[in-house]
Amino acid sequence: CGIVGYIGHREAYPIIIEGLKRLEYRGYDSAGVALFDGENLKVSKTKGKVSDLEILCEKENTKNGSLGIGHTRWATHGVPNDVNSHPHISNSGNLVIIHNGIIENYESLKKELISRGYTFKSDTDTEVLINLIEEIKKNENVKLGKAVQLALNEVVGAYAIAVFDKNRPEEIIIARLGSPLAVGVGKDEYFIASDASPFLEYTKNAIYLEDEEMAIVSIEKGIKVRKIKDDSLVAPYIQELKLNLEQIEKGGYDHFMLKEIHEQPKAITDTYRGRLLRSEAIIKMAGVEDNMKKFLNANRFIIVACGTSWHAGLVAEYIFEDIARIPVEVEYASEFRYRNPVITENDVVIAISQSGETADTLAAIKLAKSKGAFVFGVCNVVGSSIARETDAGAYTHAGPEIGVASTKAFTTQITVLTLMALRLARAKGTISSSDFRHHLLELEMIPKKVEKALEEDEHIKKIADIYKNSRNCLYLGRGYNFPVALEGALKLKEISYIHAEGYPAAEMKHGPIALIDENMPIVVIATKKGHYEKVVSNIQEIKSRKGKIIGIVTEGDEQVRALADHVIEVPETIESLTPLITTIPLQLLSYHIAVLLGKNVDQPRNLAKSVTVE
Ligand code: G6P
Repeated sequence: CGIVGYIGHREAYPIIIEGLKRLEYRGYDSAGVALFDGENLKVSKTKGKVSDLEILCEKENTKNGSLGIGHTRWATHGVPNDVNSHPHISNSGNLVIIHNGIIENYESLKKELISRGYTFKSDTDTEVLINLIEEIKKNENVKLGKAVQLALNEVVGAYAIAVFDKNRPEEIIIARLGSPLAVGVGKDEYFIASDASPFLEYTKNAIYLEDEEMAIVSIEKGIKVRKIKDDSLVAPYIQELKLNLEQIEKGGYDHFMLKEIHEQPKAITDTYRGRLLRSEAIIKMAGVEDNMKKFLNANRFIIVACGTSWHAGLVAEYIFEDIARIPVEVEYASEFRYRNPVITENDVVIAISQSGETADTLAAIKLAKSKGAFVFGVCNVVGSSIARETDAGAYTHAGPEIGVASTKAFTTQITVLTLMALRLARAKGTISSSDFRHHLLELEMIPKKVEKALEEDEHIKKIADIYKNSRNCLYLGRGYNFPVALEGALKLKEISYIHAEGYPAAEMKHGPIALIDENMPIVVIATKKGHYEKVVSNIQEIKSRKGKIIGIVTEGDEQVRALADHVIEVPETIESLTPLITTIPLQLLSYHIAVLLGKNVDQPRNLAKSVTVE
């Protein structure tokens, strides 16, 4: 979900609407805005997209005022509908709030408020919070900022909120716990947003609230940041932003996802730039160098992540074990955190996250830290919560990823993890110096090879057209390419809503083979390196059951070509680096199928770019 707010001398409405559009990549199912025009508080909200909200505001004539807050909501409590959309107003009609996150104890608070005469229009936890604030403000006879603080101390859960009182239109109160919030600082004006993209063209100066901090943003008195718990004042740190707007726009492509797929050669280069020094035959990663002892003394690595990042973790498992001979476990963060896992001070936990905000991954990190483990982060978003929470880390430098379906984040995560594995293998002596040099050389050639793989685009589009109406699809791979099969299936599910499963090719016999008939397309990653002959036998088994085979093969392959219905060629590389190449045709295949089916590629239904609730 996304938050945008404005207080100052301009019309707030266009800033809020444009800002919400820029946050669309976070995924949402309803949108709303509240504006104060000097006399009245006007709220418009609706299920659907920001464009639906614009139509509504036009109709309801709710576009004026230089104080306002807007929100895109991804339903947690209550179905996505107009009433449950934010902003929410308190019973008196004076206070208004937008909120990302979850208030866990809202039911008991709601009961209490009902017993004091409060009524509720929606099913949301947010409406409970705004009335709790109102009740405290009235009862304790305190100012809004204090009331918000007292209310938040009664609340269990996660939030990023913005609140204002129509009777005090000179200030907005904001607070954060577990969900990001930034303030853009202009001249006599302030911008509030979930990240900096909504206000980049107005100001490059931003304050990022930390967890458990709140701020009173006042036109008259400036910004005051406090700790929610103990009320202590915090000196706000104003950061100068380096991001530019073009970076987050589509750059000529039809969709962000397609742009991001095509950005991979550059993104991978950016990831190893300054780290892979081939002429000196070294890899330099500050976060690894500074903690070399911890890495080398580790009993094992535990990788925690969600979604696509979890798949990158699975690829890393192969490479860490294969090259650096370090035992690795890869865990879904959501399972790990609730399993009472055995973690010791000798474990190194690696958390992988594009956004750096995923709630489960963040919680897994906190758990691992509390048990004394050393936690290393692999994040894309600089300054994100996970980047800050970890002991050390390495950024992927992929640039902003807007498409909900992750693409360049995945390949750059693998790149970072490969660099780490190689660096540690060198330090441990598990790789010979010639083999090490060979890996560096091959890694440097990956961007060119990804470019080559991208040239298959038109051919892949034709295959997409043949299979776009399939109801199911199977993805098979072995070894390093097993996680790629999982990722290929996930991409198809996410954006085309076709049911897809990834499997280790040899496991096919233990179940999925029963699904195979002439209507089942099966994508098999069958590159020359890595159990090629075995995969060819698997392909034969599929063929004798009339499954339709789409082979991802090494350039010049003949054996699979003779068996498969279609082949997509990719350049050859060493086995450990094949995932960086074989992923590309799978991304394009899903993309084209989704586009041909007329799906919303960049914002698939029900999904969010960054899942900040558990
Ligand atoms: C969401 C996104 C996925 C992503 C996952 C983990 O589900 O839609 O694309 O892989 O979260 O996100 P993270 O930011 O932690 O990598």
